[in-house]
Amino acid sequence: MVKICCIGGGYVGGPTMAVIAYKCPSVVVTVVDISVQRITAWNSDKLPIYEPGLDDVVKQCRGKNLFFSTEVEKHVAEADIVFVSVNTPTKTQGLGAGKAADLTYWESSARMIADVSKSSKIVVEKSTVPVKTAEAIEKILTHNSKGIDFQILSNPEFLAEGTAINDLFMPDRVLIGGRETPGGQRAIKVLKDIYAQWVPEERIICTNLWSAELSKLAANAFLAQRISSINAMSALCEATGADVSQVSHAIGKDSRIGAKFLNASVGFGGSCFQKDILNLVYICECNGLSEVANYWKQIIEVNDYQKRRFVNRIVSSMFNTISGKRIAILGFSFKKDTGDTRETPAIDVCRGLLGDQAQLNIYDPQVPEQQIHKDLSMPKYNWNYPVHSVSMCPDDLKQVRVVSSAYEATKDAHGICILTEWDEFKSLNFQKIYDNMQKPAYVFDGRNVVDVEKLRRIGFVVYSIGKPL
Ligand code: NAD
Ligand code: UGA
Repeated sequence: MVKICCIGGGYVGGPTMAVIAYKCPSVVVTVVDISVQRITAWNSDKLPIYEPGLDDVVKQCRGKNLFFSTEVEKHVAEADIVFVSVNTPTKTQGLGAGKAADLTYWESSARMIADVSKSSKIVVEKSTVPVKTAEAIEKILTHNSKGIDFQILSNPEFLAEGTAINDLFMPDRVLIGGRETPGGQRAIKVLKDIYAQWVPEERIICTNLWSAELSKLAANAFLAQRISSINAMSALCEATGADVSQVSHAIGKDSRIGAKFLNASVGFGGSCFQKDILNLVYICECNGLSEVANYWKQIIEVNDYQKRRFVNRIVSSMFNTISGKRIAILGFSFKKDTGDTRETPAIDVCRGLLGDQAQLNIYDPQVPEQQIHKDLSMPKYNWNYPVHSVSMCPDDLKQVRVVSSAYEATKDAHGICILTEWDEFKSLNFQKIYDNMQKPAYVFDGRNVVDVEKLRRIGFVVYSIGKPL
């Protein structure tokens, strides 16, 4: 019986291991984490992350072949395969601050694996890491080894939050990179056999280590590049009278371009796009490829521009002053169907509005009040100038009220900003909302979810990204 241990029970480690346990009843999977709070939640009825379908999968396997534990060293020592799925945030100080990946958690995991291991192991990079990380990990593992064979594999994860279970059940592909040695190839086969229990073999791609590591960064850079491209077009649409939804539809019909990931928005968020592109930029710079670095950096510049543009539009539409005006913020998570707020554009938009003295009523169906306050009060890290992080003034935060419905948020408000595309926002009773708002009543739709014409007929002044004004 194969024993798997996964270090890190977060958005990736938890769902990924739950699905492996579900699809492979003969494998014993233990997820370990240093966070007692997270492990306690994984063992409870209220899982630490909201993800459609996750509860069912966990309930079916937990206590049978899926376990969650804080006994990190014990389970690592007993495992045949150790996945490492710890966080790899952007460095905030020291060499490479603002761009390079902080591999502190990864390195301490590798050192611990080397220390506690008594038998041979396959160590799998599940976290997103800079290309060539496996080389460093190998050095740590083999330097400390007591004649134990460690094989390192790169098996990056491509799931998206909100659709993680579906993505894991039916992945477009699984990528496994390993050394081109007999030992490396044997390790690849062991991991491939696990995935092959539910993933068609032609979808399991095996490469060398560096291709697998770089493909993960490349995939995220290409995905984010599409969003910044359509967002750049949205600005031009507004200036010319073109409609960005019509443009996306028209270009997406070209099979070489494809229809997905062309939704203009207030900007992309999430824990990974910005972090991974900055990481890519840093690697390019370290390799003397400044032109390539600048090309990828533009994607983040356009994303920042899109968020700033949205705030400027709100202020300029409301007679250049929002001081003392109440604005309803509908949606705070970085996308629908998740409670995750990491790098959500809502943070930048709310801070921009608070900087102009607005009063905010914030509603999100999944993000708790405490999290919203925490996100808005944390100093904003400036990736371009790492030494200049910007803090909110505590008085501004007194202007924030977190409420429990869209109707409560919009009552007596001057304007509404839609920042997350939650399905419930599409079917709101906008006539009722309009009747309870100050006039003129504004809607600023950062996700293109509302029917612009219908709202204008009700009487709203509507601004929708990339649509004629
Ligand atoms: P996360 O912060 O949700 O989870 C990481 C977990 O690792 C935390 O619970 C933390 O307590 C734990 N941890 C850190 N150091 C540890 C140690 N030494 N021992 C035990 N536990 C430790 O992060 P995440 O969103 O799951 O992302 C993990 C990695 O996967 C990142 O590299 C990320 O880039 C990548 N990734 C994330 C996503 C996503 O959708 N979130 C998708 C693909 C890839
Ligand atoms: C993304 C990738 O899609 C995953 O393949 C990858 O594994 C993951 O990053 C990761 O490495 O962390 P995720 O960030 O969870 O997944 O969600 P996405 O659906 O990619 O959305 C990211 C952001 O882009 C969201 O803020 C979303 O609203 C925005 N977006 C997405 C747009 O603005 N327009 C689009 O057309 C698509």
